[in-house]
Amino acid sequence: MILDILQFGDPVLRQQCTEVTEFDKELWRLLDDMYETMQKADGIGLAAPQVGVLKRVVVIDVDNGRIELVNPVITSMHGAQYEPEGCLSYSGKRGVVKRPKYVRGRAQNRFGKPVKFRGRELLARAFCHEIDHLNGILYEDKVLEWVEDEEDGVNE
Ligand code: NI
Repeated sequence: MILDILQFGDPVLRQQCTEVTEFDKELWRLLDDMYETMQKADGIGLAAPQVGVLKRVVVIDVDNGRIELVNPVITSMHGAQYEPEGCLSYSGKRGVVKRPKYVRGRAQNRFGKPVKFRGRELLARAFCHEIDHLNGILYEDKVLEWVEDEEDGVNE
């Protein structure tokens, strides 16, 4: 099911999300709906608060397959990258954000099993952007410079 994506200014986007403790059908439906919604919106990442659910859940796909992270935590980061970034909650906007170049972390999968994740460049940026959403942090807080929107830019 396609969900509505909240837009900036909505106070829900500024809330802290809570840990997921029930790995049940409701969570699986949320993950499936979030992935479908992200794909329809042509995004590379989506966090649960963007669809009005204050749970620590994100989906990511940087054309490398579907990634689902529940209760994700970044455990290490290295390097730096400065790239224009977009967000599905800020349609039509794009700004340069400093992010680590390499990121590692741990999370749980949809069944509650512990998993590790790691990524570089675009994927590292997606991990950081989505996990920020879970803490009520929006990329506009970190934009160094707004840039012209590009048709082919990515949205998270
Ligand atoms: Ni976003």
